[in-house]
Amino acid sequence: MKALKRQQIALFVLTSCLLLFGFFTPLGCGPMAGNKRGTHEGVPVDEEAIHNFCAYCHGMPPPEIFPRNAWKMEVERGYQFFEKAGLALKAPPLPGVVDWYEKKAPEKLDDSVPNRAKARGWITEDLPPWPETPPGGTAIAHLRYASKDPSSRPLLWAVDMRGGLICSWDPQKPLAWQSVIKGNHPCHLEPGDFDGDGLGDLLVSELGSFLPTDARKGRAVWHRGQSDGTFKETVLLENVGRVTDIKPLTSPGIWPMEFVVSAFGWNQTGEVWFVQIPALDADPKVWLKKEIDPRHGAIHILVRDWNGDGKQDFIALFGQEHECVTLYVNQGNGTFQSRNIYQGGHPGLGFSGIVQADLDGDGDVDLLLTNGDVLDQPYLLKPYHGVSWLENVGDLVFKHHSIGPMHGVHRALPLGRIEPGQGSPELVSVAFLPEEGFPYRKARDLPSVLLWTPKGKGQWEASVLESVFADHVTMAILSGQEFGRNAVAVGDFSGNKVPVKVFRRP
Ligand code: HEC
Repeated sequence: MKALKRQQIALFVLTSCLLLFGFFTPLGCGPMAGNKRGTHEGVPVDEEAIHNFCAYCHGMPPPEIFPRNAWKMEVERGYQFFEKAGLALKAPPLPGVVDWYEKKAPEKLDDSVPNRAKARGWITEDLPPWPETPPGGTAIAHLRYASKDPSSRPLLWAVDMRGGLICSWDPQKPLAWQSVIKGNHPCHLEPGDFDGDGLGDLLVSELGSFLPTDARKGRAVWHRGQSDGTFKETVLLENVGRVTDIKPLTSPGIWPMEFVVSAFGWNQTGEVWFVQIPALDADPKVWLKKEIDPRHGAIHILVRDWNGDGKQDFIALFGQEHECVTLYVNQGNGTFQSRNIYQGGHPGLGFSGIVQADLDGDGDVDLLLTNGDVLDQPYLLKPYHGVSWLENVGDLVFKHHSIGPMHGVHRALPLGRIEPGQGSPELVSVAFLPEEGFPYRKARDLPSVLLWTPKGKGQWEASVLESVFADHVTMAILSGQEFGRNAVAVGDFSGNKVPVKVFRRP
């Protein structure tokens, strides 16, 4: 999820004019701004100069990705990043660049909502209220349905990013959430018995701040299960940017243990880290902690032995200006060969989630992607937001296919597993279009949960499971007898009374 930039919007509204005044008093937010069309003091701004400048930090943003009236702010923001980065790069005059974009941009984006049928035969149930409501309300940033050790049954784990409480819900004791631990603005959790002692552990990614920040407040924390039911905290990594994901690379109880940590950070901080612990009682001073990618913006980490050499490789999904999927092939001892297996076309795509699953029934593992982060100003329904997949075509090559559009989509998951030869699985996707930014979401009946029914190999048709309440950045699939066929748990990030609701077939 990329709930991380939440209220960055508000901050930007407040700060952008102030910042710009500092940097660009003659050109910035004042009444004189942008009044010279196509030229800057008579000097035409040539397209190549714009390209060289704007495509320096990221893909060239095409004029059609924002409406005309948004470009001034987008361009000014590019100049702010440029000022802060201290690059030895020649910047063309700002008004000329704004003008170039404004002339080519559409008056407004196509914000039409595809006409889709309602999904039939589903019921909705509310899970119990959250045990403790923080000021501002709960913000469920992650849901995961899993067992924390092989001997216990799966529980639904939920993370409140605002209050910090992590709870579990047991389908066999459904009347209340069980408080488990508290973190400093946690946003992600991974249950499992990582040290192989038979007691379930939790890997908790802490942002360290609810609002986006470059402060090094992120922590990767391994909560090791104790025999009395409590947890003992082992900090894998601290003093880094906001941490969004932690995954083990080694099998339970195999030492040295290795972990990958994505520190999303924000603008100035953020990297991908490797942590190696030689033995359970080893002094943290002798742990190996290594930055393996200097880029910020990594949202999710997925582990898998992609080349079959017995070592776990991993994939990271990047948002921010990178908007790409990167594969890191494990060379052993903390070295990785990395390569982008997919590069999105422009920095405004807003990648929000990725999972690995067989999506075409051919027996290999593909990747399911969403891009729908809406938390940059201006709040807009973007026609390029949607669900897509990367087809594994062999030799670590992936082919991108669109599945379909969905405004504000933050997560998509296969509803069930398929066996090879069974075709594609059903998919479910959820959207985050907060009411403050999208006050028309009710009037326009914007979809918030979609069910995607397979129509032949790698093709899906969407129907609407829920609309209007697009407060979801996370979901989990619940399986087991009590759910009949698989059910879908969706989280609420907007502080509503019901933190999680479940959609299922009766
Ligand atoms: C010094 C590096 C740098 C330069 C130069 C730069 N940008 Fe960016 N740009 C960024 C970063 C960093 C982000 C990611 C910000 C985020 O997603 O919060 C970004 C994101 C964007 C986005 C996506 C915003 C969204 O809503 O998702 C657009 C559009 C964009 N830049 C346009 C431009 C244009 C136009 C120029 C040239 C005038 C430019 N940028 C120059 C660093 C740069």
